[in-house]
Amino acid sequence: MADNLLFDRLRKQAPLLTVGVLTADLMCLGDQLKLIEDAGVKLLHFDVMDGCFCPMTTVGPPFIKAVKTPLLKDVHLMINDPLPKLEGYIAAGADLLTVNVESCTHLHRALQIIGQAQNVNSPEQGVVRGVSLNPATPIELIRPILDEIELVLLLAVNPGWGGQKFIGSIRQKFIDLQQMSRQAGKDLLICIDGGVNKSNVGEIAAIGADIIVSGSAVFDGKTPFENAKFMLDAIKSTTA
Ligand code: DX5
Ligand code: ZN
Repeated sequence: MADNLLFDRLRKQAPLLTVGVLTADLMCLGDQLKLIEDAGVKLLHFDVMDGCFCPMTTVGPPFIKAVKTPLLKDVHLMINDPLPKLEGYIAAGADLLTVNVESCTHLHRALQIIGQAQNVNSPEQGVVRGVSLNPATPIELIRPILDEIELVLLLAVNPGWGGQKFIGSIRQKFIDLQQMSRQAGKDLLICIDGGVNKSNVGEIAAIGADIIVSGSAVFDGKTPFENAKFMLDAIKSTTA
């Protein structure tokens, strides 16, 4: 595991909530981000989709760069052939940069690029290297690159839309991945992404997720502060 100050910080602070920005009210994004920051959220999750790897098209580097926030920028790339585009996301301020294994022919090379990147927000720390797996993708696919990553994101929905239902089989996938990581002597941050809401966040935190993504359950168009607070309290209560 390469020395990565940001990884060390996330490991110390885990379990953490990272909030999906795409369901925020973009007409008052600054106010929306301030609300979740005041609630204690530390990470902002950017779902980048190109309409090719998955059906939806969302945002790219200009949007991510334009979002001025003290929250850590947690960038999740669900795009075809991310390798030649990584520099753009690093320059846009990604603190965590995650690529879907299914989208990347030269995954080891992509992780090398991220691992060598300077974090534009804090030059003294690196960019956290993440890989994400679609619900049907076996965890075995990442065994050859366990030494090249700090984070694994398990998608609990089929990528494309917020507000979908959590796919229950991901619980066992999480447990299997945790076991694989431990047996390999690794200390991976394992993230669960998709379909997490107030009714299941407690049990997802209880199985040991280090980072939990929630979008539409926080930015629901009504009470993001209270929603974020509820999720954070539920997550933290599992470590009490
Ligand atoms: C897949 C994305 C997820 C998802 C989260 O679509 O990677 O981040 O949109 O949204 P919610 O929390 O609303 O399921
Ligand atoms: Zn995501």
